[in-house]
Amino acid sequence: MNILMFDSDEKLNEAAANIIVGQIQTIPRAVLGLATGGTPVGIYEQIVRDYRRGMVSFRSVTTFNLDEYVNLPIDHPESYHSYMNAHLFSHIDLPEAQRHIPNGNAANLTEECRRYDEAIELAGQIDLQLLGLGHNGHIGFNEPAHALIKGTHIVELAEKTREANARFFDSIDDVPKQALTMGVGTILKAKKILLVVKGADKADIIREALQGSITTDVPASLLQTHPNLIVLLDSAAGGKLA
Ligand code: F6R
Repeated sequence: MNILMFDSDEKLNEAAANIIVGQIQTIPRAVLGLATGGTPVGIYEQIVRDYRRGMVSFRSVTTFNLDEYVNLPIDHPESYHSYMNAHLFSHIDLPEAQRHIPNGNAANLTEECRRYDEAIELAGQIDLQLLGLGHNGHIGFNEPAHALIKGTHIVELAEKTREANARFFDSIDDVPKQALTMGVGTILKAKKILLVVKGADKADIIREALQGSITTDVPASLLQTHPNLIVLLDSAAGGKLA
């Protein structure tokens, strides 16, 4: 595991964008696993800047997002489809057919999960997976549990997750109760994982995830088993690491 700490958000975003852009420069047909939420916004901004400078093209890239809410219309401003369009997809040359986000409005959600896993398998698994971290240690929407699920599945969002995400909605009642998420098995199969964590409110959970015991109660702790994990932290998030 490689942990890097940054004293400014700008430098952290630049470093994360460099890793992602560098991956595409090395392997133009790279398969990227993408995250949403507050953490990657500045990273996507930096990637779009790099794209506009002609440093990278996404023509041959394939992307798979980690998750999407269940039963939130795709065109709702807080759907992860809208998020990805707003922050990344509408600004770059990534062909639409090569972008994948689970469909939380599918008539048959179990079938949608199976289809999503099949598409990832067909793409040859993920080269580089970008991850944020939930306050309860979730990655994707794999919430703390006695057992974690390998592939894409339907998940009941933890109250803590709904509370954290209420900031994007008018009220907590509007935050969906379920989501589709890529499983921990798929995440761990990624050749390289880039975990980005920002803010003092994540200092305890990142310490537990990286330096505590490996337990399904802190899903991110399973990342300790990954042979190619890069962790980028701001100094507030990294403040409690031993
Ligand atoms: C988002 C995702 C989540 C977030 C996590 C942190 O696609 O899978 O695991 O990365 O909830 O969210 P923020 O960045 O908003 O603190």
